[in-house]
Amino acid sequence: MRNDIPQIGMTYQIMNREGIYDLKEIAQEYHAQQQYLASQQQWGYDRYLKNSSNASAEVCTPFSQQTQQCSIWSINHYLGLNRHPYVIQKAQEALEIYGTGCGTSAMSGGHSQLHKDLQTRFAKIFSKEEALLFPTGFTANSGTISALCRGSETLILIDRDSHTSIIEGCRASASDFLPFKHNSLQDLEKKLKKYSGKYVNILVVVESAYSMEGDIAPLKEIVALKEKYSFLLYVDEAHTFGFYGKNGAGLCNELQLTDKVDFIMTTLSKSTAGVGGIVATSSAFACMLRWSSTYTFQAAIPPADVMVVNACLDLIENDSGIISTLWNKTHYFRKQLLQLGFDLGQSQSPIVPVYVRDPKILKEMEQALFEQGIFTVAVQYPAVKASEVRFRFIVNNSHTAEDIDHLVNVLGKLGVKYGLIKPQEFSCASHTPLE
Ligand SMILES: Cc1ncc(COP(=O)(O)O)c(C=O)c1O
Repeated sequence: MRNDIPQIGMTYQIMNREGIYDLKEIAQEYHAQQQYLASQQQWGYDRYLKNSSNASAEVCTPFSQQTQQCSIWSINHYLGLNRHPYVIQKAQEALEIYGTGCGTSAMSGGHSQLHKDLQTRFAKIFSKEEALLFPTGFTANSGTISALCRGSETLILIDRDSHTSIIEGCRASASDFLPFKHNSLQDLEKKLKKYSGKYVNILVVVESAYSMEGDIAPLKEIVALKEKYSFLLYVDEAHTFGFYGKNGAGLCNELQLTDKVDFIMTTLSKSTAGVGGIVATSSAFACMLRWSSTYTFQAAIPPADVMVVNACLDLIENDSGIISTLWNKTHYFRKQLLQLGFDLGQSQSPIVPVYVRDPKILKEMEQALFEQGIFTVAVQYPAVKASEVRFRFIVNNSHTAEDIDHLVNVLGKLGVKYGLIKPQEFSCASHTPLE
């Protein structure tokens, strides 16, 4: 059962295509493929920002050293707070008072009063008895799932499109795990029916919104299944925290489901523009995780990063305009793409996928977008099926109306050129005030 899991990464692709198992050979194959793609101007990864910013920057391409001023569409700072003067001021104050790193984990003196207060704040936000602050969102997921699922008495059911941190948690656990079809209540119920009674515990792990599709999970219906089949429910709110629910408290809050969900997780690297992960749960589960997860075995996040998150929470709680601005920009962008006839799949959130469904066209378009001052990363096989390759544009409060209009115009022209939309559907986008 443990093998039926989505395989991610080039290693899998290379091993299967070439039958190569020697690690040195695999590494050489990686290198050769990357050199080839770079020579064809098809290596879009590893581009970096010369002067990091949230919505526009000079972007440098390794190998060619080509640079280009671009609007950035691949960064998850939904609320655009990473350059907010209040956030920076608070982080600087914390740096002065508390210094830099913590030097050890939460359980051995790595936490300050700041860390403890942030945990309490998140417990309240998620309406849970306690919240634990992990050093990253990745280890919050992988560490929690692997610590909870300790043996053959537990089965983990995860959505097939789960983030790698969830899959890694399953792999590191000592329990069986199985994916169900993406957002499919039918497939989830089929598996619950089959395995309930065969395991002491079933843990169902879902994301409230999925980062490759921009669609949201049917949480209400999943909670209804929980009432029928009695399992533990873990919801990752990485892509909804900050702009769904009251004061951005997430989708479980918006749907009034917090008391039905056993674990509410979010990363702190997206809406709250810092680093870290939170898992909110009951005191009993928090106690278990404190004893046995990455919480105990990984250095705590620096106090300045705690203050970044605190400052972002202050801004989100005191200014509802921050959230409505994101939604206005998202709706404005989505409406124009839909009018042009682009296929946006089932997306609803500020993650806006544009389906291309042809790997060759995808790579050509990625380079054409870059040359037109638009930076995003192509979502390609094996991360998704070849027939589902796409772009992913992540709307961010720092994008201006001009940034959005420029992207729509360029996409429109490329969409016509590559047959993604019909010519008559394309007319130039015009500036519309958003704020
Ligand atoms: C759904 C989801 N969960 C967890 C993570 C991991 O969070 P972080 O990158 O902040 O460690 C990510 C990161 O992209 C994510 O998309």
